[in-house]
Amino acid sequence: MRNILVTGGAGFIGSNFIKYVLKNFDYNIINFDKLTYAGNLENLSDIETDKRYTFIKGDICNENQVEECIKKYKVDAIVNFAAESHVDRSILGAREFIITNILGTQVLLDAVKKFSIEKFLQVSTDEVYGSLPEDQKEIKFTEKTPLDPSSPYSASKASADLLCIAYFRTHKLPVLITRCSNNYGPYQFPEKLIPLMIAKALNNEKLPVYGDGMNIRDWLYVEDHCSAICKVLEFGKFGEIYNIGGNNEWHNIDIVRLILNKLSKSEDLILFVKDRPGHDRRYAIDSTKIKNELNWEPKHKFEDGIDKTIKWYIENQNWWKKVMSGEYLKYYELNYSQKIV
Ligand code: NAD
Ligand code: DAU
Repeated sequence: MRNILVTGGAGFIGSNFIKYVLKNFDYNIINFDKLTYAGNLENLSDIETDKRYTFIKGDICNENQVEECIKKYKVDAIVNFAAESHVDRSILGAREFIITNILGTQVLLDAVKKFSIEKFLQVSTDEVYGSLPEDQKEIKFTEKTPLDPSSPYSASKASADLLCIAYFRTHKLPVLITRCSNNYGPYQFPEKLIPLMIAKALNNEKLPVYGDGMNIRDWLYVEDHCSAICKVLEFGKFGEIYNIGGNNEWHNIDIVRLILNKLSKSEDLILFVKDRPGHDRRYAIDSTKIKNELNWEPKHKFEDGIDKTIKWYIENQNWWKKVMSGEYLKYYELNYSQKIV
């Protein structure tokens, strides 16, 4: 395995993953990204001149683009991050989620088959399992928990997972699936809870908390997710699913209060708003399998990870202000118009 195609590498986790790999391994990375509203090449500006890194603007739903890229760069393995990833957007309109998350995965799987790619890792989510009871803390998602998605987003991710398993069984493809809990860290698009709340607090704007704020998420620092994906890519068993989690459950309202407190802002900024339809109450991951079989554990303590994240958003206000105004699109035009294949 030398040449890794990373799809969706200009997004939050994909860009963190590319940097993590370039720092810790000697692979060539081809970042294949459509640059939707969530894709931002500025996330990669510190490594864009690395000789082991190439960016290709492309759509995973476009068979020709995918195949050309695989041939040109002699791709050995694919890690698929490319997706529509925001639950609220999937509630407003599901179509793009079905197209990219399901059809796009099928296009990649067919390419894996056609070009005998060595490994295909599907980056999935714990949301495919639906919601856990909040009063039975001993119950967590294992890899055997039945699929029970609640939103069009999680239904599209569950569908993609089923396709991956079907291609493994039918075509013997070298498929690996990871299902991770909520990530946080630098470069997360400020539509997601933690960066949105930091940005709103820094702007002294109201922080919109859905419902009663008592929904629970299991938070993992993004670099820990990246290290887990590398473990699975290197040592995972084909056809297997690996859950990845932080063992770190928080009520949303407590996260919001923590952020306000750390920024010395008043809790009067909290605004309870109408709940998200189909809102999953609790997520919690049982990571026993990846710990026992692949010797992976998260390295970052939440207290440190959240401090680092808040510091990053304070120091990089230009990044999220531009992202929020859509201005970052100009960056792409300016820097990459010459480089697109
Ligand atoms: P993101 O929205 O920040 O990034 C998605 C990236 O995919 C963007 O760069 C976008 O331009 C690209 N993309 C979208 N459609 C594409 C297409 N058709 N072709 C090529 N590129 C396309 O998402 P993220 O938060 O970084 O999540 C990455 C992956 O990890 C997703 O598959 C998501 O389901 C999964 N995941 C996310 C989390 C989380 O907490 N964010 C947790 C578990 C799993
Ligand atoms: O669990 C993994 C998933 O985590 C990933 O698959 C998704 O791609 C990712 O977006 C994330 O999904 P969530 O829906 O859990 O994340 P989000 O940041 O949108 O919301 C986290 C919680 O905060 C959720 O209970 C809804 C709540 N929330 C969110 C927003 C944006 C609010 O209360 N107010 C808000 O404004």
